Amino acid sequence: MRINGERLISSIRAMGSVGFNPETGGRTRLALTDEDKAGRDLLCRWMRDEGLEVKIDEIGNIFGIREGSDPSELPVMMGSHIDTVRDAGMFDGVYGVLGGLEVIRTLNENEVTPKSSLVVAAFTNEEGARFQPDMMGSLYYARKVELGELLSSRDDSGITVGEELDRIGYGGAYSTPVGCYLELHVEQGPRLHAEGVSIGIVEGVQGLAWWTGEYYGESNHAGSTPMEMRKDTLLAVAELALEAEKLALSLGRGSVATMGRIAPRPDIINIVPGKCSFTLDFRQFDGELFEEGKREVEKLIVSCAARRGLKYCFKKAAEAAPVIFDRGMVELVGSRAAFLGLDSMKMISGASHDAQFLSSFCPTVMIFVPSVGGRSHCPEEWTDVKDLENGCNVLLHSVLELV
Ligand code: GLV
Ligand code: MN
Ligand code: MN
Repeated sequence: MRINGERLISSIRAMGSVGFNPETGGRTRLALTDEDKAGRDLLCRWMRDEGLEVKIDEIGNIFGIREGSDPSELPVMMGSHIDTVRDAGMFDGVYGVLGGLEVIRTLNENEVTPKSSLVVAAFTNEEGARFQPDMMGSLYYARKVELGELLSSRDDSGITVGEELDRIGYGGAYSTPVGCYLELHVEQGPRLHAEGVSIGIVEGVQGLAWWTGEYYGESNHAGSTPMEMRKDTLLAVAELALEAEKLALSLGRGSVATMGRIAPRPDIINIVPGKCSFTLDFRQFDGELFEEGKREVEKLIVSCAARRGLKYCFKKAAEAAPVIFDRGMVELVGSRAAFLGLDSMKMISGASHDAQFLSSFCPTVMIFVPSVGGRSHCPEEWTDVKDLENGCNVLLHSVLELV
């Protein structure tokens, strides 16, 4: 049995047109916006067209359920997310959800009904681009955080997750259990493409920690305030960015640190910025080094403020510990890639994924396919159609072994 690659890519393209911006060549479906709602509506329609029962839970996770013949068997779940960062490619997240749907379509046309139910899941706000924490839907599904805390998370304009779920009509009350979880995803990094390998068997995911913070100094006139009298918050944030880079390089072993958002205020050409907000993202796979890195980041946030006599505040906005996936699931994916005659390699994911939280309570694995040039979180993100098809066939045959 094989999936239909043309059908898969045409669905990915259709989803990729939702929120598309011809000027940038990217699409934007930030969580719980109108564009996200349009993507959700399309997905739910496709799910119902395949005879799936659609359930929505309290955080807006979407589950499309295909009943198995034995209700006592726990479901096999395939999934990822359909929200995006700003000006995203077509594949991040969407491939895992529509890859799962393609497996269902393939089973439907072959009239195969296994014992276990199958679930296609689209988790809410995986990206964390609008609301933090990221991976919000899977965090809730794994019951790692109270619902109320997540529903009260606010975006930049003060709107809450709860308000937006109500507004777009995706605040539900129905969930579904899971026996094991498989997430198909583009690598988003350079290794598979550079090494010419078709399938990445993901053994684990590195840890992620996010902070949001703000420095407080003094707004003042850009012409008349002598350099030595300034309390310039942007300069302190600039130092923090460079120190964070140094920290990642000195910790080594793949540590990465990023400051993706910096907002000086009042944001005027001739005013020394008296306030500056920032975000900081730190990742590392090794548990001890991850802990050390987190401690050092917090020390840097404080010391960069102190050096310029600034006040500060900061808080941890998200955290996901490094995880190692279930050995049996990893071996299963490797054996199915070999069965299909595909070359594969084991690897650790640099990006975070919903699988990180699912793996805390059910056997979990991820399947990667090459990202051309390692580009992702940008309009240039690309994966060749043949690779998409190969990865989805590995998903299909892994699922067939599990049901
Ligand atoms: C999600 O895409 C992340 O790794 O930030
Ligand atoms: Mn993703
Ligand atoms: Mn992403």
